[in-house]
Amino acid sequence: MTAFATVDYAKRDDGIAVLTLNRPASLNAFNIQMRDNVYEVLTAVHEDPDVRGLLVMGAGERAFCAGADLSEFGTAPSQAIARQVRFERDIWGLWLSMPKPTVAAIHGYCLGSGIEIAIACDIRIAADSATFGMPELGLGLIPAAGGTQLLPRLLGSGRALDLLLSGRRFTAGEALRYGLVTQVVTPVDLEATAIAILLDILHAPSPALAAAKRAVSEGQDLALPQAMALERRLAGTLATIA
Ligand code: COA
Repeated sequence: MTAFATVDYAKRDDGIAVLTLNRPASLNAFNIQMRDNVYEVLTAVHEDPDVRGLLVMGAGERAFCAGADLSEFGTAPSQAIARQVRFERDIWGLWLSMPKPTVAAIHGYCLGSGIEIAIACDIRIAADSATFGMPELGLGLIPAAGGTQLLPRLLGSGRALDLLLSGRRFTAGEALRYGLVTQVVTPVDLEATAIAILLDILHAPSPALAAAKRAVSEGQDLALPQAMALERRLAGTLATIA
């Protein structure tokens, strides 16, 4: 296992890597250091041929991630520097272009950036203890890591606006009903269930998994004829591999 300042990264023998957000005293709040550490881990996951899938979890009993670190608000560099850093460290681009399957296993609080990390993953499951919410607007902000774009794509704009505008908390059961998570389990079963989901997915060859992910994520931004052409092209690359 590699321990970074704010995350742990472990590679298992079965090809699954586990990224654990690890600031439990702050309910795994997402700070600048965590962004940099997650960026390093995602780069490693992209490049490491031994890693075939990624599980994302939160350390401690209480949270997957309680959102952006409020103690850093107002301490960020100027807008221009912040934009430059974002450009050089496009962490969300790395998530969304990840060719390997990713599963988020969510327990406790999953707020703001916690939801944004979770929806950057392919599949989300939750413990029945999980509490979700998008509190940004109440703080006079809007989500800035995909919340206003990925949430409507996933849930439809009506439900996404309901959650964004109200900022209300919602339960794991509601998250299941909205389609934010695909399964709710007991906290003790959470990690094993997520691993089982990934192992099941990993029966498929990696090129097929990567092509399916690309077809879905890139296809969403295209008109249907172009999206169908993309699908045909990607299917053709697999046919030549076989
Ligand atoms: N940023 C920084 N620190 C945070 C944090 C965040 N987003 N969320 C929780 N923490 C810290 C608390 O400051 C506290 O630290 P302390 O023990 O040094 O005082 C610790 O985590 C435990 O949180 P606490 O508030 O005492 O627990 P609680 O059970 O009373 O409340 C929450 C839990 C999640 C409801 C509450 O912490 C909260 O509302 N957090 C902010 C959520 C938020 O607005 N996130 C989005 C920002 S865009």
